[in-house]
Amino acid sequence: MSRNYDVVVIGAGPAGYIAAIRAAQNGLKVACIDEWKNKDGKNAFGGTCLNAGCIPSKALLESTELYHRAHGEFAKHGIETGKVSMDIATMQKRRAAIVRQLTNGVAGLFKANKVDGLVGHGKLLADKKVEFTPVDGDVEVIGAAQVILASGSAPVELPMAKFDGERVVDSWGALEFEDVPKRLGVVGAGAIGLELGSVWARLGAEVTIIEALDDFLYMADREVAKLAAKEFKQLGLDIRLGAKLTSAKAGKKGVTVEYEDKSGKQSLEVDKLVVAVGRKPFTEGLLAEDSGIQLDERGFIVVDESCRTRVKGVFAIGDCVRGPMLAHKGSEEGVMAADLIAGELAEVNYDVVPSVIYTAPEIAWVGKTEEQVKDSGRAYKTGSFPFSANGRAKALEQTSGFVKVISAEDDDELLGVHIVGPMAGELIAEAVLAMEFDASTEDLQRTIHAHPSLAEAMHEAALAADKRALNYPNKS
Ligand code: FAD
Ligand code: NAI
Repeated sequence: MSRNYDVVVIGAGPAGYIAAIRAAQNGLKVACIDEWKNKDGKNAFGGTCLNAGCIPSKALLESTELYHRAHGEFAKHGIETGKVSMDIATMQKRRAAIVRQLTNGVAGLFKANKVDGLVGHGKLLADKKVEFTPVDGDVEVIGAAQVILASGSAPVELPMAKFDGERVVDSWGALEFEDVPKRLGVVGAGAIGLELGSVWARLGAEVTIIEALDDFLYMADREVAKLAAKEFKQLGLDIRLGAKLTSAKAGKKGVTVEYEDKSGKQSLEVDKLVVAVGRKPFTEGLLAEDSGIQLDERGFIVVDESCRTRVKGVFAIGDCVRGPMLAHKGSEEGVMAADLIAGELAEVNYDVVPSVIYTAPEIAWVGKTEEQVKDSGRAYKTGSFPFSANGRAKALEQTSGFVKVISAEDDDELLGVHIVGPMAGELIAEAVLAMEFDASTEDLQRTIHAHPSLAEAMHEAALAADKRALNYPNKS
């Protein structure tokens, strides 16, 4: 007899596994199907984020940042280390262990919440039936009252720089290098290019990043992008803007990269090339022809703001639908879908999705950039506070960067907060919460911040928006 569930989720990345757990917590009978296979051939839950994205990249960013700081910074504290060296195999073993712990953790959470984690391929048929092809065993058709599609995304491949898994690789390949490439080329100065470029540059690779756009970090506030560009240059990242890749030919010794910029044709020899020019929704083999699900012209599953597809009872969440391709955005959509299915009120506040780039200094923001506010025509004020005037940052020896608050002139509404500096990814949480609760800039000003803490920079930036900064001269 075929199985029936209240909810079947296809995909166990941060969107799908969270949706499944929340649905089970809502008292529903849930299955979550996932086919992810790691390079060792083993299946694992957690999707791109846990296996080949957020988590392994942060593990490597941490290891390499410590290594980098041990060189440049320890002596300032009086710490004498002798020659510091890095064992890449140990670093990679640690990365793999963190991934394993967290992906096993998802399996454990499924068990604890009574979610049936099914390993294999899921395909949505008509009438909310799901065809499940297990990794071992026979194909089965599962009945579901509601279905949540959470199939994620895959890297964009450029026709002139096809991935070969050896010399020309995607971000997953670049996370698993066994040696430091002497010369590393990266196509795309986005989140992946900057994070993985930093990892290998800190270990001594000569990193050249080719970016098609003229503007560096086009999505960030211009002041933040300017400071970040300066810092990345200091790290040794050679970022070439307005550079359009024309070809990448892999040979025995390396890759010949050709691109065009304002001055004409250019070429570059590298040992490895990482192509990180964005990701595309992944829906291969997910939908039967008569499933009724609609894709847009870019391949995203069409949903409304509650993540409902055009088929009643079928939701889609995470990277396979519109919006930023971020793990936390997908997870919140998962919670929303599971709660709506349980008959509760639920929504995602897309205006306050934080963005973080885990470089050094870190970059984080929420809300609008100053340029976007200016374009909107609304009168605004800004306040900034540099980490160079923050006691905790001094103690940490990490004084580069600032917090910038943008607020409305009329009602003091917080419109955007932008941070470049130490722990920006942690500090931004305060701004997200403030904006979620519609706090005013004055609310931030009147909130007590522990001393000494990096968070005081947020406090002072909010004060500075009204020319009331206490620990830094105010703009006249
Ligand atoms: P995924 O994580 O892609 O999971 C989808 C899952 O569905 C996969 O396991 C897939 O195998 C499975 N699947 C697909 N189709 C089927 C099917 N038909 N049957 C069964 N299973 C199926 N985001 C952040 O917020 N912070 C970061 O720091 C960050 N760092 C990143 C670093 C890198 C290098 C990369 C590549 C991405 C990073 N991201 C980061 C983005 C983040 O990984 C994605 O936004 C997130 O994983 C999307 O979650 P998802 O659940 O929608 O999809
Ligand atoms: P991205 O969209 O962040 O950046 C891609 C960059 O490549 C852009 O700057 C683009 O202009 C450039 N580009 C595109 N085509 C090009 C070409 N032909 N030649 C040269 N440059 C070209 O995409 P990325 O870095 O691949 O990341 C994919 C997704 O993963 C992003 O949506 C991001 O949100 C997510 N991610 C998030 C992270 C985080 O939150 N810290 C870290 C890593 C990835």
